[in-house]
Amino acid sequence: MDRERQIELVRRVLAHVEAKTTDAAPAGETLDVEAYADERRVDREIQVLFRRLPVAVGHASQLPRAGDFVTHDASGVPLLIVRRDDGGVDAFVNVCRHRGTRVESAPRGNKRAFACPYHGWTYGKRGQLATIPHERGFACVDKQARGLARLAAGEAAGLVFVAPSPLADGEDPALDARAWLGPLADDLEGFGLGSSVLYGPRSVDKALSWKLAIDIFLETYHLRPTHKDTIYPMFFDNLGLVDRVGPHLRNVFPKRTIKELARAPESTWALRAHANVLYHLFPNTLVLVQPDHAAVLHVWPNGPARTTVASYLLVPEPPASDKARRYWDANADVLYGATEEDFTMGESIQRGLASGANREVVFGAFEHALAHFHAEVARRTRAA
Ligand code: FES
Ligand SMILES: [Fe+2]
Repeated sequence: MDRERQIELVRRVLAHVEAKTTDAAPAGETLDVEAYADERRVDREIQVLFRRLPVAVGHASQLPRAGDFVTHDASGVPLLIVRRDDGGVDAFVNVCRHRGTRVESAPRGNKRAFACPYHGWTYGKRGQLATIPHERGFACVDKQARGLARLAAGEAAGLVFVAPSPLADGEDPALDARAWLGPLADDLEGFGLGSSVLYGPRSVDKALSWKLAIDIFLETYHLRPTHKDTIYPMFFDNLGLVDRVGPHLRNVFPKRTIKELARAPESTWALRAHANVLYHLFPNTLVLVQPDHAAVLHVWPNGPARTTVASYLLVPEPPASDKARRYWDANADVLYGATEEDFTMGESIQRGLASGANREVVFGAFEHALAHFHAEVARRTRAA
């Protein structure tokens, strides 16, 4: 994030601290509880948001060298993502073009070619169909047209994005992830995400809607009651910034230490030292920038009321000692301790939906980031 933006954000925070206010919309609004429970809605959201938009599936440090690959299944489409010789990334549907077997079963590795385990058809690194055992039986097959189904893929700020719908012949597979992120690409690059490395990946299944799994991170109103004995003492009660950036959100969660900056020259202000910055990359990725690292959560719908959350830290360099590993593990423990408190509330909401107590939920004026998020989901699913 550039200095001017950091200074602007710190000024806004200090003004709120002084006035005991927070960023807010002019009024609150409501959302029909069906948004969290209706199966057809979720199917539609998957088709529109999780198939056609660029969705972040991981980090570049998972595949640093040419031929490195990862497989990824959480989106509902089996993906094979491969580092090209020219440094870019290709993404394919990990399904054989003979009779449909999964081609690559390893979670990651490095290969020159991918062989289907069923009859041994092989595919090159660029997805091209390379060999067919006993090829004379397949005169009907145009090998050129039987490469692995291609998907649009690209990177920005170190994050790997894929649009998981197979491209038509001749469609451009380059996905402009920087354009999709808009100004947030520079924000995240500026925080060093592009050169960071992934640490401590984990995945949890939770009994709540994917949208609730996003909601629970988008406001500071819950900090005091929900995180009273854990992270709340570092933060303010209900004080945060919310900026809508295209379909995405930039949230600033200031720490109490930011008050010190009021007495320091602006030229020394570093936002990150005194605030966590939480980016919501629409539709399903959260990036929490902390003083010396970041945490990433990818939220994947698994049905109307089930969600898989894949998360990891992004640290400046691979930890070279046990001490370094313990340091990052301790950071992860604090993060996951707090997110468990959030998920506990989210699962409680999900269970409460069926009671009939609420036909709608209420977003207060300072819960406007949630209102933005749901409006964007509704607008895009309606328009498609
Ligand atoms: S299904 Fe892959 S080679 Fe037959
Ligand atoms: Fe929280």
